[in-house]
Amino acid sequence: MSITQRKRAKIIADCYTKWDISGKKVLDVGCGNGVVSELLKERLGIDLYGTDIIDYSKRNIPFKKMTTSEKLPFADASFDCVMFNDVLHHTDDIKAFIAEGSRVADTILIFEDSSSFLLRLVDVVLNHFYSPQMPRPLNFKTQEEWQLLFKQLGFEYEAGKLFYPSWYPFKHFAFRLKRR
Ligand SMILES: C[S@@+](CC[C@H](N)C(=O)[O-])C[C@H]1O[C@@H](n2cnc3c(N)ncnc32)[C@H](O)[C@@H]1O
Repeated sequence: MSITQRKRAKIIADCYTKWDISGKKVLDVGCGNGVVSELLKERLGIDLYGTDIIDYSKRNIPFKKMTTSEKLPFADASFDCVMFNDVLHHTDDIKAFIAEGSRVADTILIFEDSSSFLLRLVDVVLNHFYSPQMPRPLNFKTQEEWQLLFKQLGFEYEAGKLFYPSWYPFKHFAFRLKRR
């Protein structure tokens, strides 16, 4: 596990702690290799399940592979909470995918890359060389664009506070969404 993954997990967990999901059944959509998922499970004390369109999970978390990139393979309201951690900018139709998340849980937590030039560049380069199979529409948004999208979808939203070590080069957004 890299120091960056550990730090990312800490930054996400410190932010999500405020929303008190301890003990809840949580679906981590786009859980990837599961390293960050496992750390979030421990730090937040949640009952975590993972799903992704690619199966490269390295960790022992319950995992179900998605068969299409639009549909979550779970019944309506089968979770308390859905997390999208650095996933939405990889999807073509962000609105439809958030709506799909809200079908399986009434609370949605989002951690997203900011739209800074540095993050865009790093994402393009890293994805090109290390994750060529990952969908890369790279639909970055500004904070205002995210908030407008949540309003259009009819969610109440709250922005989370993120704290970084001084050496950490990237910035993100975090939100909690609930149906109005
Ligand atoms: C940048 S990685 C983030 C992995 C993990 N969430 C984390 O924070 O370490 C993006 C992940 O989203 C997944 N992904 C992309 N489009 C997806 C979709 N439509 N449905 C589910 N997962 C998707 C990719 O396969 C990849 O594992």
